[in-house]
Amino acid sequence: MTERTHKTIEQAKQEGKYIRTVRSFVKREGRLTKGQAHALDNHWQDMGLDHQDGMLDYAQVFGNDNPVVLEIGFGMGKSLVEMAKNAPELNYIGVEVHRPGVGACVGLAVEQEANNLKVYEHDAIEILADCIPDNSLTTVQLFFPDPWHKKKHHKRRIVKPEFVETIRQKLKVGGVFHMATDWENYAECMLEDMQSAPGYENLSATNDYVPRPDNRPLTKFENRGQRLGHGVWDIQFKKL
Ligand SMILES: C[S@@+](CC[C@H](N)C(=O)[O-])C[C@H]1O[C@@H](n2cnc3c(N)ncnc32)[C@H](O)[C@@H]1O
Repeated sequence: MTERTHKTIEQAKQEGKYIRTVRSFVKREGRLTKGQAHALDNHWQDMGLDHQDGMLDYAQVFGNDNPVVLEIGFGMGKSLVEMAKNAPELNYIGVEVHRPGVGACVGLAVEQEANNLKVYEHDAIEILADCIPDNSLTTVQLFFPDPWHKKKHHKRRIVKPEFVETIRQKLKVGGVFHMATDWENYAECMLEDMQSAPGYENLSATNDYVPRPDNRPLTKFENRGQRLGHGVWDIQFKKL
């Protein structure tokens, strides 16, 4: 690891600085299955990344200089592992707070031999601030983030102008921020935030949504949704 270039959020808190307290998740207490526990016990040393280790040196972590894709909130990791497996020429970093999901993802990556994937079990907002160098990512993907349906909970939605600007800082020039959601109101808000953010270009030919790119696997849930006539909106913006 390289030396940290700035303070961690914990240090700032200790110094009494104002720190964001509204989070985009509520930590669910899920028990680990035997398989998930086994995966974490046996493979965390190869696949796990720790927030307290600070700024990442990708070449050291992956042993190569391949472009890096960051996925935020990968759930159980099914689509992340599939994407990593299908693109060995890229390096993948997944961030998820739900421990059973992290265990499931590690287990699946081992089973599928997706060796180009590392994961954090931590709040992505803190990982972005403390571990991801600026101008370093080729893609950031955010698939089906918690929609927080009720209006009074919209402040918990991860996509907001401040987040969109943080992602822009972390992307390389030409890097792409890819979001997908099945909640129309959230899609509209995402699009509005992206359109009013400086330094991005919409990759949509119609200046709104893009068709699902082939590299984003169709989830089981999405498949069912399509049969029921539910929509899914993909949004892709490039950093200028
Ligand atoms: C609705 S689920 C979608 C999971 C997965 N992307 C999918 O498409 O199946 C949203 C996920 O984001 C995770 N999450 C929410 N906020 C997060 C944050 N700040 N950092 C990391 N993970 C987060 C949640 O724990 C949850 O697993």
